Amino acid sequence: MMWEKVWNQDKIAYGGDYNPEQWPEETWEEDMRLLKLAHIDTLTLNVFSWAALQPSEETYCFDKLDKIMELAEKNGMKVCLATSTGAHPAWMAKKYPEILRTDFGGVKRKFGGRHNSCPNSLVYRKYSVKLAEKLAERYQDYDNIAAWHISNEYGGECYCENCEKAFRVWLKKRYGTLEELNRAWNTSFWGHTFYDWDEIVLPDTRSEHLGAEQTMAQGISIDYRRFNSDSILECFRLEYEAVKKYTPEIPVTTNLMGAYKPLDYQKWGNYMDVISWDNYPSNEDSISGTAFQHDLMRGAGGGKPFILMEQTPSCQNWQPFNALKRPGVMRLWSYQAIAHGSDSVLFFQLKRSIGGCEKYHGAVIDHAGHEHTRVFREVKELGAELERLGGEILGARGNAKTAILFDWENWWAVEYSSGPSVSLKYLDEVLKYYTAFHQQNIPVDVIGEEDDLSGYQLVAAPVLYMTKPGVDERIREFVKNGGTFVSTYFSGYVDENDLVVAGGFPGRLRDILGIWVEESDALPEQKANKFVYQGQEYLAEILCDIMHLEGAESLAEYQEDFYAKTPVVTRNDFGRGQAYYVGTSSEDGFYRKLAEDICKEQGIEAAAIVPEGVEAVRRVREKEEYLFLLNHSQEEKEVFVPAPALDLIGQKEYKQGEILMLPAKGVGILKGQVSGRCFK
Ligand code: GLA
Ligand code: ZN
Repeated sequence: MMWEKVWNQDKIAYGGDYNPEQWPEETWEEDMRLLKLAHIDTLTLNVFSWAALQPSEETYCFDKLDKIMELAEKNGMKVCLATSTGAHPAWMAKKYPEILRTDFGGVKRKFGGRHNSCPNSLVYRKYSVKLAEKLAERYQDYDNIAAWHISNEYGGECYCENCEKAFRVWLKKRYGTLEELNRAWNTSFWGHTFYDWDEIVLPDTRSEHLGAEQTMAQGISIDYRRFNSDSILECFRLEYEAVKKYTPEIPVTTNLMGAYKPLDYQKWGNYMDVISWDNYPSNEDSISGTAFQHDLMRGAGGGKPFILMEQTPSCQNWQPFNALKRPGVMRLWSYQAIAHGSDSVLFFQLKRSIGGCEKYHGAVIDHAGHEHTRVFREVKELGAELERLGGEILGARGNAKTAILFDWENWWAVEYSSGPSVSLKYLDEVLKYYTAFHQQNIPVDVIGEEDDLSGYQLVAAPVLYMTKPGVDERIREFVKNGGTFVSTYFSGYVDENDLVVAGGFPGRLRDILGIWVEESDALPEQKANKFVYQGQEYLAEILCDIMHLEGAESLAEYQEDFYAKTPVVTRNDFGRGQAYYVGTSSEDGFYRKLAEDICKEQGIEAAAIVPEGVEAVRRVREKEEYLFLLNHSQEEKEVFVPAPALDLIGQKEYKQGEILMLPAKGVGILKGQVSGRCFK
């Protein structure tokens, strides 16, 4: 298979958000000197310039942007050109109040902040599309545009009357008739039957909600989330079409935010040429947590490489405590992004602004205004390394045999559920499984329910509460054909409308798993049951399923309470494959052991066996294999090289059996047939 460039770049792109419009023109040349000194080659321009580009309804003014585009070209920079529609101009809000959002409490917002436009406002749509089109028309002949960057971090929700009307239209399209809608929402409960579409109102604190996550009518609330995600996606798609009219060859993206709950990015991925996303972990976040986010984003793009659109070179401004990235960490996390599929390292921001809430957000060019800072030096060193790497790695993909199913609608449904437990958080449970594989360096793809399972040996679907039509069938086929499936408590409960699948849990997954869950016991925080798996005792927390075996064998039983001695972990042979079921939420050690056992049984190998604290990740391009070795620990680590390889970072050839020394926070990229082989 020929590898594919995801955007108009010949190397790992290096650069980020640059806002020269906030500065006097005399300063631009010095900025260019500094940025080139740091080996920066890509500028994300024009992210928040709507008010400047369209000072009034009739007038557009591109003079300054023309100059900025010329500046970029003259200095050999690629451009990631934003359409500026992430914040509308104040005059527009004054003239057309309909573009302002109404919040969850029903309060109509005034002008201010950003992400401030109602996605269903026709005025907003008209003018955002018009601006995107004008930009594409004007700059279409620039051959240094690497990608279009539509809006910026789309997000939020709107509960205005326009959205309410649009919701009814969306519902008509989904359900056709009111009878069908009443059935799907089970409106006979609490006398909610609708006789006219106009009786349907948005689910917020004025109607169905007590709090953000507490709704009396899950069907309505889940549909609102689908509708809101679709409405905002529609804004993206309209701008997408507008720029494509003039520049059909230039890839189009918008910067996503990882596991951002309100937007169904797996659906969005179908409409984006390339995924890009903004990675802002805090120093306290786990390495596996960040790896998961990268893999989730790569999965949303169908496994293609993605663009790391933003990360901070040093600190954020919006965390409660904005700690600095320690020396070496920016570099390490940049390579972690590349290892997991990024074809870029881009920063927010290239230059620190002097006013507004982001003036203390880290930047390549500091307020000091020169190159003699720690951050600048680190950025420059990484820039030189990426330059040396050149076009290597670009376009390379992962080749995981293990997948974790993640689904946004399921996320909404699990956390809207009233009972069984407020402690049950979908992302946390998924992360437990992901972490178990990741810590053993077993490559994982994070995929959606619609994705093809046939290329995998192992598929884990933690808390697959909502089993949408066709999903159980695909899993059944996968297992019948020899696949290994893992699922957990609170799975198979409801259909796509959040209506219970009657006849015994886990519903449509019951035959595959070979069990019947009769009851489920929610344990308060600090309380736990216990079970022994492979000679080791582990905690059973949050929920404890009480189940009957229907063909499955029990691998572990509860030790306490009235359901002591009943199964908690099971395994069922099904077709040529097998299905594991974990009827509770446990601790890291258990997941790690279970993942290890299953992978051993199935012959699924780690990318490499490396010392604790080192992350090993593989990317593959045609016959080339790149093994990333990322030392997240504070100590130097020795890595045994099992076959001849070239370290692209240290520029050193290794013979079979030699030791590669990874300094604390250090990185190596071995090119050669070394992955999957036994490391010490
Ligand atoms: C987001 C935005 C940027 C900036 C950064 C600050 O990712 O896209 O414009 O606000 O956050 O961390
Ligand atoms: Zn609205």
